[in-house]
Amino acid sequence: MTIKSIVSINGKLFDREAAKVSVFDRGFLFGDSVYEVTLTHNQKIFLLDDHLDRLWLSAEKLGIEIEWTREKFLVEIEKCIQHLGLPRVYIRIVVTRGEGEIGLDPALGISNNHVLIVKELPENPKNWYAQGVHMIVADIQRTSKKAMDPGVKSGNYLNNVMAIKEAKERGAFDAIMLNYKGQVTEATTSNIYIVKDQKVLTPPLQAGLLEGITRKTLIDLGQRNHLTIHQEDFSAGELRMADEAFLTSSTKGIVPITKIDETAIGSGKVGPLTTQLSEIYQNFVLSHS
Ligand SMILES: Cc1ncc(COP(=O)(O)O)c(C=O)c1O
Repeated sequence: MTIKSIVSINGKLFDREAAKVSVFDRGFLFGDSVYEVTLTHNQKIFLLDDHLDRLWLSAEKLGIEIEWTREKFLVEIEKCIQHLGLPRVYIRIVVTRGEGEIGLDPALGISNNHVLIVKELPENPKNWYAQGVHMIVADIQRTSKKAMDPGVKSGNYLNNVMAIKEAKERGAFDAIMLNYKGQVTEATTSNIYIVKDQKVLTPPLQAGLLEGITRKTLIDLGQRNHLTIHQEDFSAGELRMADEAFLTSSTKGIVPITKIDETAIGSGKVGPLTTQLSEIYQNFVLSHS
């Protein structure tokens, strides 16, 4: 199956094959860029404001000044969505510090490249949700907040690439990363939660993780539905002893975890609180479609 796609580079539309950025772009050379991923439901962009807020926050932390306005992003993303005319698309927003002479000094980046990659997004496999997925705990650690802050969604994802590489080599869906203290942080492109004795827990931001938009939304929805999600640290051992576990991300929604390394989580089936939160989240998505 060919996935339909369109790429916008600084507002000009290109087919996948023709979409090119200079090799002198700092995003290519150093991962010196920020990005966001969201999607559409029935051609409506899902939570764009939150994603743009986080894009600006990431850029601010790296000292990248974004030249486009929020309104400009909206107009250009809409152009791509209309061009494809599909109900459900993946939207990747990338802003690089720009092109310039080779050298680490950020001042060498002359002006941003704004790239939008918009492509058809098939529904995720049903078995992820019905049976849950198998995760591993990666040997590679999540970077410390004092190194490249995991709270910044930058183009430098090699840490996470190495973690998912471990997962794939071990036949798993994805990897969970620990911080230097051995506490759970998140998966490579999702936040993580456990349920223990009816209590839902997710690691706090201080553990060193990206503040997911889905995480923020779910914490808020939980609160409104008398199902508090507590932000507390837990270890890999506690993770394996959980009654239930699940992941969240914009494009995956809520994905149950039923096995970690060689250990079944709880009964090895999707748990009741995961199901309840999935229904609450699904209703929220429908109300934004
Ligand atoms: C490292 C990391 N954690 C968590 C998430 C989930 O974030 P969101 O819910 O905003 O998609 C992502 C998304 O790509 C991610 O890259």
